Amino acid sequence: MTKAFVVGHPIKHSRSPLIHGHWLNAYGLDGTYERIDVAPVDFGDFLTGFHAQGFAGGNVTLPHKEAAFLGVGRRTERAQRVGAVNTLWVEDGVLWGDNTDALGFIGNLDATLGTGWEQDVDTALVLGAGGAARAVVAGLQDRPLKRIFVANRTGSKAEDLARDLRPGSSVLIETAAWEALARVIPHAQLIVNTTSLGMAGQPPLAIDLSRAPRSAVVADIVYVPLETPLLTAAAAQNLRVVDGLGMLLHQAVPGFRRWFGVTPEVTPELRALILADLETAR
Ligand code: ATR
Repeated sequence: MTKAFVVGHPIKHSRSPLIHGHWLNAYGLDGTYERIDVAPVDFGDFLTGFHAQGFAGGNVTLPHKEAAFLGVGRRTERAQRVGAVNTLWVEDGVLWGDNTDALGFIGNLDATLGTGWEQDVDTALVLGAGGAARAVVAGLQDRPLKRIFVANRTGSKAEDLARDLRPGSSVLIETAAWEALARVIPHAQLIVNTTSLGMAGQPPLAIDLSRAPRSAVVADIVYVPLETPLLTAAAAQNLRVVDGLGMLLHQAVPGFRRWFGVTPEVTPELRALILADLETAR
């Protein structure tokens, strides 16, 4: 039997057990995926000890993603770029870390828009400069875009992100002032919200989409609510929209493949299952 986990603090709200449990069931695999609550002071011991306790690996969530980044023996190039680790496994005795949020974001765009969507996107605008923004930029960098603008309320964080992700990038990474978004929006065929604005209990992300290109895609990584005020505004302008739930589902794929040896599919059934759970939690 293969055992995997999601570790965080707190951990009870994580949807990952539902996602991986669904796949274990669907593919008839002999495995488990469990929630483990580990306080920050104990995380180092957990990291070095989980394999001896019979776990093949697992996911890492708040607040441990940076500690996992620092604590692993080796990282994928993608995790290196993002500066955070959310997926762990052991290979030839070495503890490895990856960041699958970047793949999750891109995998969801591929699934929602159809592969080749990037042919219509030469400029992307990423709003926010936290961990989620780093993953989104790192994902977009793997596609043949011309440039990515990063805009954040605190401009210095956008500068830091750009500086960290520029080395080796074939896509130009530029920063844009939060107050000057109106000048960038008309050039952006892909607009992505990675800020917490629009999340239940938070103010909406109020940006004017009326001058966005008609072909623009607006993506939100917030998934509670699923249709954020930003996506409502985009749909009202007849722009294509990509909601945040898909990224959550797609980021789980690489880990499952790694631990259980099967590439799982993100199906409408899985999406409905998680949506129903989000509804009951409200
Ligand atoms: P995560 O790791 O999930 O990306 P985070 O690091 O807390 O979370 O980042 C939250 C993002 O939302 C940041 O870009 C933050 O902007 P600041 O860096 O200026 O704090 C952005 N954000 C949060 N509240 C905001 C608000 N009221 N207006 C604009 N941006 C906001």
